[in-house]
This record gives sequence, structure tokens and C-alpha cells, in this order.
Amino acid sequence: MSRGGMPPQTYHAGGVAASIMRTMPTVWNDSLLANPHAAADKRQRVRSMFAAIAPSYDLNNRLHSLWMDQLWRRNAVKLAGLRPGDRVVDVACGTGDLALRFARTQGNAASAVIGIDFTHEMLPIALRKSGGAKVVFVNGDALCLPLADGCTDVVSIAFGIRNVADPAAACREFRRILRPGGRLVILEFSLPTLAPLRALYNFYFRKVLPRTATLISGDKTGAYKYLPESVNTFIDRSAMMRMMTDAGFADVTQHPMTFGICVCYRGRLPGAI
Ligand SMILES: C[S@@+](CC[C@H](N)C(=O)[O-])C[C@H]1O[C@@H](n2cnc3c(N)ncnc32)[C@H](O)[C@@H]1O
Repeated sequence: MSRGGMPPQTYHAGGVAASIMRTMPTVWNDSLLANPHAAADKRQRVRSMFAAIAPSYDLNNRLHSLWMDQLWRRNAVKLAGLRPGDRVVDVACGTGDLALRFARTQGNAASAVIGIDFTHEMLPIALRKSGGAKVVFVNGDALCLPLADGCTDVVSIAFGIRNVADPAAACREFRRILRPGGRLVILEFSLPTLAPLRALYNFYFRKVLPRTATLISGDKTGAYKYLPESVNTFIDRSAMMRMMTDAGFADVTQHPMTFGICVCYRGRLPGAI
């Protein structure tokens, strides 16, 4: 599936982000958090932050979503409409939860699943969790995927598009690697549309979660302050759907879950099914 050959079978376990961390322990300060998406060096900051929180990433996810995160991923797999033999590329795979869910989905026995992430520190954790699952984890950037044009049936990205420096360019890159008729599935945090519910959720999201998640992870980068602020300042649902359409996707739909805290977006590349 790679450009000019087979995909690498192993991850690159370098420590670039770790070395950035030594010079930049606090990644997000209050002024950057006013709109983290506008940071000129968002890419490096995001990578340093995820490198720092990788070891406690899963625990914080489960606890702070009350295990709903796994349900959201399961729904994303359903919405991808997998068929036996489908190839799947899970971008920004992190510790591998969505990629592994694709690989373990019944009826998809012959498929190949590739998980790609630009934070090296996430990939050994994903690999450890993979057991016998047919997944390859690769170090790579969503904006320049090390894969050939039209090589896959499904591209997925869970809680990743918000973290990418140029989400529109990433959508165009997803389009490039999808075959005609292929599906793009994006899972991302959103906010409840009902004002009182939104206010209540934001109290938890902005005031409670940053404290408890930071305590659990021992994080010094500001990762769990970044999380709610990056959601609150990210493009809204209609802009997200427009972005997918502008990148060339058709039949773009949104599927809100759990009062709209999380939304799954799906689009299809025009052409053969
Ligand atoms: C919130 S985590 C989501 C991980 C996983 N998809 C999940 O469902 O738990 C976001 C991930 O996006 C990755 N990421 C951010 N920007 C990226 C990029 N440009 N290319 C590849 N990975 C990226 C980070 O390294 C991080 O692992």
C-alpha cells in the first residue's frame, strides 16, 4: 500500500518529541489556549504533548469518558460499512484503539489495517495491545501519508483531525489514498447543541477534567487544558461537513452521539462502489 513498495512493518521508535519536551515542558500556556489552532508551531506542540501523555492516555480516556470512548469507536466502525477484504487506514491512531477495533471486527477477516501516527511514543503502546490482530503501526504524518494513491477502502481518524495543523489539507490527503467509492470516517469531539447542557458539560470539561486528568497523568504540558479549549475553538459541525465536501467527498453525513459530545462524520468518494 505504500508509495513505491510495501508499508514498513515496524514503527520508528525515535525520541524527537521527547527531546522537544526537554526544552519545552509547558507546551500550552494561557495565551496559546485562547485559540490553540492558531499557533504557528501547532504541529510540534501537539506532538510534544502526546509524547508526554502517551503512557496514561488510555486510562484517562476511559475514566473521563466513563468508557463511552470505546462505544463511540464501535459506532464509527459500524458507520464505515466494512466489507470482507476492505483495507483500512486509521490515521492519528494513537494507542491503536480504533485500528484494533477495525481489525477485530467480524466479517472483515481478510482485511489489512494500518494505523499511522506521527507521535512515536504512542506506537509501542498500540503494538503491545495488538496481540494477534492483523494491524501494522507506522510512524507518519496525516498531511503526507506514506501510502500510494487509491490504496485503501476506508480512511478513519478518531479525535485526530482537531489536532492536525491543517485539517482541510488532511482531508485532501485522505481523498488521495482512497479508491473511488471509498469511505472517510471522522470521529471528533463536539459540544451539546442545547445551551444548558452545553454549559453543564463545559463546566466538567473545562474545570473538572483538566484537574483530574492532569493529576492522573502527571502532565506538565497543559494537555488537559488544551483538550477542552481545542474543542471549543475548533470549526463547528457544518464547517466540518463543508470541509469534507470541499475535499471531494459526497453524501457527507453527521451522527451525533451522547448528547452531541462526540460526532461521527462520514463521507464517500464518488465513483465505483
Ligand atoms: C487524541 S489522540 C487520538 C488517538 C486515537 N485515534 C484514539 O482514538 O484514541 C490524537 C492523535 O493524533 C496524532 N496526530 C496529531 N496530528 C497528527 C498528524 N499530523 N499526523 C499523524 N498523527 C497526528 C497524535 O500524535 C495523537 O496520537
